[in-house]
Amino acid sequence: MNSMNSGPETTNSPPATAAPATANNTVAATATVITNIASLVTNDPSLGWGSPRSSTFESGGGSPLGLIQDAAVVIEGDRIAWIGETSKAPATDNRVDAGGRAVIPGFVDSHSHLVFAGDRTAEFNARMSGQPYAAGGIRTTVAATRAATDEALEANLTRYLREALRQGTTTFETKSGYGLTVEDEARALRIAAAHTDEVTYLGAHIVSPDYADDPAGYVDLVTGPMLDACAPYARWIDVFCEKGAFDGDQARAILTAGKARGLHPRIHANQLTYGPGVQLAVELDAASADHCTHLTQQDVDALASGDTVATLLPGAEFSTRAEWPDARRLLDAGVTVALSTDCNPGSSFTSSVPFCIALAVRDMGMTPDEALWSATAGGAAALRRTDIGRLTPGARADLALLDAPSHVHLAYRPGVPLVSAVWRRGERVA
Ligand code: NIG
Ligand code: FE
Repeated sequence: MNSMNSGPETTNSPPATAAPATANNTVAATATVITNIASLVTNDPSLGWGSPRSSTFESGGGSPLGLIQDAAVVIEGDRIAWIGETSKAPATDNRVDAGGRAVIPGFVDSHSHLVFAGDRTAEFNARMSGQPYAAGGIRTTVAATRAATDEALEANLTRYLREALRQGTTTFETKSGYGLTVEDEARALRIAAAHTDEVTYLGAHIVSPDYADDPAGYVDLVTGPMLDACAPYARWIDVFCEKGAFDGDQARAILTAGKARGLHPRIHANQLTYGPGVQLAVELDAASADHCTHLTQQDVDALASGDTVATLLPGAEFSTRAEWPDARRLLDAGVTVALSTDCNPGSSFTSSVPFCIALAVRDMGMTPDEALWSATAGGAAALRRTDIGRLTPGARADLALLDAPSHVHLAYRPGVPLVSAVWRRGERVA
């Protein structure tokens, strides 16, 4: 049987035959070791390329990925306990033979909108027949979401989470933004918070239809009673800063109010048009400016000067038939770039990070190594996390086994379901 086509082989070796762990690689016998990994992405350049253990794998020098060839990983509890070459791996009770396939960190999808109900097939169909995308389509999902029960919203959320997990996503951020009343926004966040720590309050997605004639009144609601009800469930606050949604002054007021309540800003910026969002993000030390499709040189310079990550969401450009964000320009300027799905029923109805990687490589000027880094370590940076997005001792044991010898295949074989096993917090989950 060709192991490239099969699932990983798991064996439980009897303790009597297990070799004792050496002083350098002591791990509990109950740990799991994954061996025979053709190419392991650690995202720590000091562990792979450039170090004595360096690999000359086809990606070559200069890679940020810290690749180790013929590698092994030891998982103990919910953490990575050891990484190195298979020949030096400590013995453990549980052994998984990767059979010459690649292992990567689980994807960190730092931008999604998964608490929603309903469907916008007709809008997509019209768009693919020539209609432009506009922020107003969000209202359709708001109406459906308000009408849905808590159970229906949660069932929909878990459906897309399972779908994402099967495709290698082990951490996801998700937002409110389809409720736009105090009760409906708080409910969305409460449901999201049961499934992830990375929850974002997006009461400022669009001006609620109930406030169509009073946008200032809606900003007062978002920064007042709605913020009070939502802050307990959220880590982040977000605004859609765009024509048809919120302008720079409104966005500043909303993010500043959130900061005062202990929420950290992130922002939908410069998606459909040029605008103030990116520079505001840097000014407020937002963790991330998301979309970044229309950027002036000042926007790029601002991103390069601060700690704000540029999160690119090519699923949105794909599904709205829009111009691609220029990842190459940002990377060449020294900006930290993340790559995420923006999964939502309007502008980007994909939960697939591999699909976004393929688009970023084909159409946005990213190398396969850069795209993989951005979808893992980049996503972690956009969430200001250092415990995920990397496979180094002490990091969370979130990883994916690919049915391919290298991560390059994620772009080389677009549309093919290459993720063949997933561990999250050390547990085999898919
Ligand atoms: O990120 N840009 C604003 N929000 C979403 C779209 C939401 C929708 O169309 O329902 C986005 O693309
Ligand atoms: Fe979005």
